This record gives sequence, structure tokens and C-alpha cells, in this order.
Amino acid sequence: MAIRKVGVVGCGLMGSGIAQVSAAAGFLTVVREVSPAIVEKGLNIIEKNLARLVEKGTITAAARSEIRGRLQGTILLEELKDCDLIIEAIIEQLPAKRELFTTLDALCPPSTIFASNTSSLTITEISAATKRPQRFVGLHFFNPVPVMKLVEVVRTIATDPDVYEEMVVFGTKLGKTAVRAHDSTGFIVNRLLVPYLLDAIRALEEGVGSIEDIDNSMKLGCGHPMGPLTLLDFVGLDTTYYISQIMFEEFHEKRFASPPLLKRMVLAGWNGRKSGRGFYDYSDPQKPRASKL
Ligand code: CAA
Ligand code: NAD
Repeated sequence: MAIRKVGVVGCGLMGSGIAQVSAAAGFLTVVREVSPAIVEKGLNIIEKNLARLVEKGTITAAARSEIRGRLQGTILLEELKDCDLIIEAIIEQLPAKRELFTTLDALCPPSTIFASNTSSLTITEISAATKRPQRFVGLHFFNPVPVMKLVEVVRTIATDPDVYEEMVVFGTKLGKTAVRAHDSTGFIVNRLLVPYLLDAIRALEEGVGSIEDIDNSMKLGCGHPMGPLTLLDFVGLDTTYYISQIMFEEFHEKRFASPPLLKRMVLAGWNGRKSGRGFYDYSDPQKPRASKL
């Protein structure tokens, strides 16, 4: 079955990036958010990204108009019902994802393929909310989606092998390297990355070093593009908190447990760069300053 039209649910950090690369790869793309204001905010991010690509000469102004022309925002889930593939990128909470897919399952024809961009939930437990677990995969993209070259394509024991191969091809058409992963909590990348990020918070809590020194150590000492606390702000502290809770519940290992400081920051609404404050204060986005914690 050829994928022509792609639905994306959620137009936050990840959904906006997924919608952008989908439209850029030539797919008609409709992205759904919960309010007109959030739809507009997400589409504005995409428009700014496309404008930057035109400025840099990566794409022509005509190509930008074509990409934008393939992209539609909506608040109505019904507008996704004729999509060949629907990719979900909403909050990292199981009840919200299951409720969404149950509704989509009733709305869409049996041929529609469903995918989740979840970071840590198992695809099996999300797909069990539908009557089509054989047409359900994980498509796990990385932040920022237009830049990061990887997609983890995740199959459950129920995924139809032909659907799975089609999704590997789809990931490649988006310009990504598709790696194959089993439906194990955290897949490949987060199984390895999340304990490292949480350990950086524990190091800060224990006074091993300051925010800047922990970040500079991993940047300059190990060649990472961002230090771990900057990366946590970039991913979103709320999202990381949900991920750690889910991974700890699965493995019951301390390395996945949520450090108390992370919980306090999320409760205070310090969700990282997207909320203007996390381990750094982004009042001046060009010059983030370490927060006093
Ligand atoms: N959207 C689109 N493009 C972006 C962008 C964004 N949010 N941020 C940066 N870019 C582009 C820039 O336009 C620039 O493009 P050109 O090279 O064509 O000019 C390029 O990326 C580099 O940007 P900068 O020069 O401004 O900054 P940089 O060199 O520091 O790179 C970065 C920025 C690519 C984000 C880099 O710092 C990086 O790779 N950081 C690590 C990101 C990472 O680890 N992501 C994975 C997070 S974990 C995850 O996603 C999984 C999960 O489930 C939580
Ligand atoms: P985000 O907070 O930036 O965006 C989530 C968006 O989903 C919000 O804009 C919210 O309004 C919207 N939303 C909630 N319920 C909705 C619904 N029923 N319909 C439509 N929209 C709805 O979060 P994010 O960082 O984009 O994360 C989204 C998903 O991607 C999560 O499952 C997360 O674990 C995963 N993920 C995140 C990253 C990352 O680095 N942030 C990387 C890979 C995967």
C-alpha cells in the first residue's frame, strides 16, 4: 500500500518536526492539536525552520511554498480519517495515548497504519487499545527532528512483517537512517541515554560539580554536542520525568529512578527550554544563564 497522506497528532517539539519532514518528503500532511492557538504556534515553528532553510540556500523559495502547501493544521481528529499513516506525538502518558488511538481506531478504515513516537512506553500496551495491533508500529524520532538522522522503527510480536518493512522504507523516505528495534522499554537509544541524563542530575544534587561544569565536562571532555543538563532542558523536563517513571516501573532499577530535583523542577513548571526555564534560564535565548537551584 502506498503512503500518500500522513496524519500527525500533536504539534509540540516532536510533532512539529515530524510534520515538517513528512511534508518536505512529499507527503500530504495534516497535523492535529488541541486548540487553534497551539496549531498556530506549531505551524509557526515549521515556517521559521523552512524560512531558515531558504535563507541558507538549502531549499528554494518555491520548494518552501510547495512544502507549506502540503501541510494542513487542524483541531479536528476527523480530518485525519483518510490518512494512510497516523503518527502520534502527544504527551508521554499511557491513558492519553490509549484514548487517542481508541478514537482513531473507530474513525479510520482498517487499512490505516498507526505509529507512536513514544520515548518509553511499550508499543504493545498502546496498540492493545485498538483492534489493529498488526498495523501498529513505533516510529521513534529524535529532537530536533529536521536535524537528527535517526528513526527507530519498532515492531511488536503482533506487527505484520509487511507493514513493518513499509515503515522502514517510510523512515528512509524521510531522509532518516532507520534502525530496527524490538518493543523493549526505551528501545535502543533511551535504554542507554536516559540513565546517563538522570545520573547528571544526581551528580548535580550531590554537588559533584556546577551546572556549567557538568555540561562543559561532557561537551569538551567527551565531544558531546550538548552537555547533559542542556540536553535535558532541550528534551523537556516534564517529558524526561514521565519517561523515568515509566522506565523505573518497568525495570525497577535505580538508574531509571527520577531524581528528587527533577520532580521538584517539574512541579514548579520549570520544564526546560520550551517553558523558558529549567537548568538554565532562557529569558535571553541567545545567552542562557545557569539557574539557581
Ligand atoms: N529545528 C530545526 N533545525 C535546527 C534546530 C531545530 N530546533 N536547532 C538547530 N537546527 C539546525 C540549525 O539551523 C543548523 O543548521 P545548518 O547546519 O544547516 O546551519 C544546525 O541545526 C546546527 O545548529 P546550530 O549551529 O544552531 O547549533 P549546534 O551546532 O549546537 O547544533 C543541535 C544544534 C543539532 C541541536 C546539536 O546541539 C545537537 O545535536 N544536540 C544534541 C541533540 C540530541 O542529542 N538529540 C537527541 C535527544 S534524545 C531524543 O530525542 C529521544 C527521546 O525520546 C527523548
Ligand atoms: P510537547 O510537550 O512539546 O508536545 C506535546 C503536544 O501534544 C502538546 O502541544 C499538546 O498540546 C499536544 N497534545 C496533547 N494531547 C493531544 C491530543 N489528544 N491531540 C493532539 N495533541 C495533543 O512534547 P514532545 O516533546 O513533542 O513529546 C511528544 C511525544 O514524543 C512524547 O511521547 C515524547 O516522549 C516523545 N518524544 C519526545 C522527544 C523529546 O526530545 N522531547 C524525543 C523523542 C520522542
